[in-house]
Amino acid sequence: MDFVHTPVLPEETIQLLGPRRNGECMVDATLGEGGHSFAFLSRFPDLKIIGIDADREIQNIARERLKPFGDRISFYTGWSQDFFSKPPPETAPADTILIDLGISQYHYQKGRRGFSFTQDEPLDMRLNPEAGPSAADLLDRLSERELADLIYANSDEGYSRRIARRIKAQGRIRSSAVLADLVFQAVPPAYRRGPRHPATKTFLALRIAVNRELEGLPSLLERALAFLKPGGRMGVITFHSLEDRIVKNFFREQGKNTPDAPIYKEGIVNLLGRKGFAPGIEEVRNNPSSRSARLRVVEKNVRKERQ
Ligand SMILES: C[S@@+](CC[C@H](N)C(=O)[O-])C[C@H]1O[C@@H](n2cnc3c(N)ncnc32)[C@H](O)[C@@H]1O
Repeated sequence: MDFVHTPVLPEETIQLLGPRRNGECMVDATLGEGGHSFAFLSRFPDLKIIGIDADREIQNIARERLKPFGDRISFYTGWSQDFFSKPPPETAPADTILIDLGISQYHYQKGRRGFSFTQDEPLDMRLNPEAGPSAADLLDRLSERELADLIYANSDEGYSRRIARRIKAQGRIRSSAVLADLVFQAVPPAYRRGPRHPATKTFLALRIAVNRELEGLPSLLERALAFLKPGGRMGVITFHSLEDRIVKNFFREQGKNTPDAPIYKEGIVNLLGRKGFAPGIEEVRNNPSSRSARLRVVEKNVRKERQ
């Protein structure tokens, strides 16, 4: 079986999130092709994992890959925020939670849902193609102004107004190649010659909107932390600054020793590594798509009553 995604920060996640006691259970809240889970299950023979993914298709690949680990791996298909808020009966709280946000290289290369501007595919972009509007539907529904605001808010694209104008002038767009071409035409020539394809940010912004990634993140973090055992650890990997800011601020708030968290003497969590963890030169050389990754890890405090 061929896997296209290389897990990011493999050593850091193992070091920081590997089990510290026997019989631990981890939740891999963004299983993908199962690269991280494979590494953890191989390294720690006593560990059990629950692997969650919103995308059934990619989860089926992980199911095949992780078969040799038998009942040490179990699966949940759906959004991890839903799992954490209503876990299946008799699921014990987790010792460790790993959240590796965004989409997999699989989606860009083999997803066939228009995630990549380098392929000509139906413009869908849904991780769960059974729910919610596709990217094509979204482009249809939004006004020019709403589309420009969305592209700017989700990706900081400076040419969002020109891009939105060009897209809305086109009528219904069904293919990723057509969208990439329209964005290319909309931007000034100098931007076309830049280091990145000019449609990079527009595609990112649309994918984030279609899958409600930024709206869903605060509730995902809150619910995951509530599901974590006291003393347990949670690690979150982000790939762009908007996501990372949400994670950083959430952990900072949870770490505060304020009267708003009266049952915790020292704040709800302790941050491990103040600035988080980024891939080294070697990892970026071997896996260029890891270059923007950042891992933030917290340990949940054991409750101590204030005196
Ligand atoms: C970056 S990939 C994970 C790669 C994985 N760690 C590996 O090593 O193969 C993110 C995966 O999480 C899924 N995903 C993203 N957000 C999710 C969420 N909130 N709930 C469930 N699945 C999610 C995506 O479908 C994708 O397969």
